[in-house]
Amino acid sequence: MADDWGPLGALAGDWEGTGGLDRAYRHSEEKVIETPYLEKLSLKPFGPVDNGSQSLYGLDYKSAMWRGDETNPFHTEVGYWLWDAATGEVMRGFVVPRGITVLAGGVAAPDAVSFTLSAKQGGAQYTIGENKYLAVNASTLSYDVLITVEADTWSYAETTMLQMKEFPEPFPHTDHNTLHRVG
Ligand code: HEM
Repeated sequence: MADDWGPLGALAGDWEGTGGLDRAYRHSEEKVIETPYLEKLSLKPFGPVDNGSQSLYGLDYKSAMWRGDETNPFHTEVGYWLWDAATGEVMRGFVVPRGITVLAGGVAAPDAVSFTLSAKQGGAQYTIGENKYLAVNASTLSYDVLITVEADTWSYAETTMLQMKEFPEPFPHTDHNTLHRVG
């Protein structure tokens, strides 16, 4: 199985991470704050999906993050990770329920334990869609993520550059966590 899913095979399963850290501008406090979070994430393998001669294997995923003991997650994502063995292309397409969609991509070896994906606003292949309010008030310029796989853990470190009305310069909204296998 690992062969068909390339570098994504190691991510299949159920995961939890208690060491998440988010850096964002919090409107209710009118300042940038760092927020620790708990994350639960599941990635389920599927495939192949064929586009003509292209054959993709993937993982569908759902993630949720909580601050402290709150009941409702303050951030969630749903999406797909995809692997094209013929080209070494890795993709992650996901939705953030603020009205944002991302298709990020990169290239990796089939046995890579570290790889990066990125998307840019207006990018030809790897791009970002957002709603009209966000386009004016907090527009996503780019998304970059570094994935690192170790034995029974994996980590991500991501930077989302936002053009926010509160700041003249693009603002780096960052998130990182290490996920431990729970199933
Ligand atoms: C672990 C991942 C993430 C977490 C935990 C997270 C969390 C947050 C938090 C706490 C805020 C501040 C909301 C407020 O108090 O006003 C925020 C804002 C925002 N996030 Fe994220 N975020 C994550 C990933 C992303 C990604 C991947 C994107 C886009 C590709 C994104 C786009 C935005 C935008 C556009 C805002 C600004 C909304 C506004 O200013 O009104 N976030 N996020």
